[in-house]
Amino acid sequence: MRPDATFQIDLAEEQIASYRDNGFLSIERITTDEEVEWLKEIYDQLFVERAGEEKGMYYDLAAPRGHAGREVLPQVLGPDLRIPELRESNHYRNALKLGTQLLGVDEKVTAGGHMIFKPAQYGAETPWHQDEAYWNPDVYLNSVSVWMPLDAATVESGCMQFIPGSHKEDLRWHRHIDNDPLIHGLVTDDVDPSQAVACPLAPGGATFHHSRTLHHTAPNTTDNPRRAYVIVCSGPTRKRDKPAPRPWTDEEREAIAAAGIDVKVF
Ligand code: NI
Repeated sequence: MRPDATFQIDLAEEQIASYRDNGFLSIERITTDEEVEWLKEIYDQLFVERAGEEKGMYYDLAAPRGHAGREVLPQVLGPDLRIPELRESNHYRNALKLGTQLLGVDEKVTAGGHMIFKPAQYGAETPWHQDEAYWNPDVYLNSVSVWMPLDAATVESGCMQFIPGSHKEDLRWHRHIDNDPLIHGLVTDDVDPSQAVACPLAPGGATFHHSRTLHHTAPNTTDNPRRAYVIVCSGPTRKRDKPAPRPWTDEEREAIAAAGIDVKVF
């Protein structure tokens, strides 16, 4: 049963100012230990079911579509579409509230979720990227991603690492991992890892990052899984005169069609 959702938090002015300067923010808690336990059960069940695979809502982010080997970075998109009760949680409510504070908008903010699983010992790296590279090229975005681990997130298990101030850059050129357009995961080159700030977290903590903040997580070399649940909060968007170029997305669609794989690309 879902625990009571009465855990409320607010961001201090200094935290909001730090987010504006750096493009990311880390907080120790966004939900309760009790709720983390409840979420783990739902999380594990969705991965066992490979929830939504037939609709392109479950796939391995760091390996080619339809590969038969062991999964290294599987993800479930839209878990709250399957389990609407997730939206009643402390986690979801606080993510939306704090995300709205960071976006600094009065208009309605929408939220969507995904879960990214990094298996113990062989979970793959998520290489350096900006989230905007994945998203709708038709609009100017205004989004913040709220990343919560359900397990201890350390550098060795794959906690978030950010390049401070990179959210003020333009969107960079991205390419597919291993230069294979059948791999959904993207990477951008020429990032100086010595500038990275790692944000280790206990279960139920959270980081926030802007859609242009450069970020990465290392491979999971520990004996524990690293389960993460991400909520993306989006404020109003503005339509572009013409779509922003995303050659990597075009390549992916073409490669999927050429391979005869019948799946929608999200
Ligand atoms: Ni990302």
